Amino acid sequence: MNAPLQSAFGKVDAIRKEVLVAASLPLHRATTFPRHAYVDEDYFRFESETVLKTGWLCVVHLSQLNEPANFLALDLLGEPLVILRDKDHAVRVLSRVCAHRGMDIMPEGFDFPRSGKAAVLSCPYHRWTYNLDGSLRGCAQMQGAEGFDKKNWRLAEFRSAGWSSMVMRRLWTSSMAISANASPLGMRKRWKSSSQWSGSAASTGR
Ligand code: FES
Repeated sequence: MNAPLQSAFGKVDAIRKEVLVAASLPLHRATTFPRHAYVDEDYFRFESETVLKTGWLCVVHLSQLNEPANFLALDLLGEPLVILRDKDHAVRVLSRVCAHRGMDIMPEGFDFPRSGKAAVLSCPYHRWTYNLDGSLRGCAQMQGAEGFDKKNWRLAEFRSAGWSSMVMRRLWTSSMAISANASPLGMRKRWKSSSQWSGSAASTGR
């Protein structure tokens, strides 16, 4: 458990116990969860760490990325992501954190579209540009810098997989196979052929 959660342990544990009590009531005595289970920041952190980040989460439906260069920006549990279909039709989940100075390459509030088509990804700060596979394409005024090799710089890529027309992203701590999460939903597992879908391994180890 991380430090902020540790210090809030008593409160979080009390909410957790209230949730368990409510969840175990028989149907004829059913009630809602306590209000703080929905609005308490520490409880949300607890749920993020112990539930949401331990498995696979659906990040997009494949129909939202029908064509090469389709992209969708998404903030997932504090992680700025861009999910896209690259020119080879592979679906990728990339970080939006620029490899140069850490700027969000599609910051909110600056009229950047959150979805659409993009031939390249471009950071608004110093205009580094990235190919749709996350590799660095252009970096003005850096090419001559001593020891700088643009092959060493890219947008981080997260582990992802296709499941039943949805793109799932594996979060930080899970080593669980995707079917372990998906099977209880009772939905038919239907992997896409490689021409439609290419799951990707994390280049960052995440
Ligand atoms: S922070 Fe992105 S180009 Fe400088």
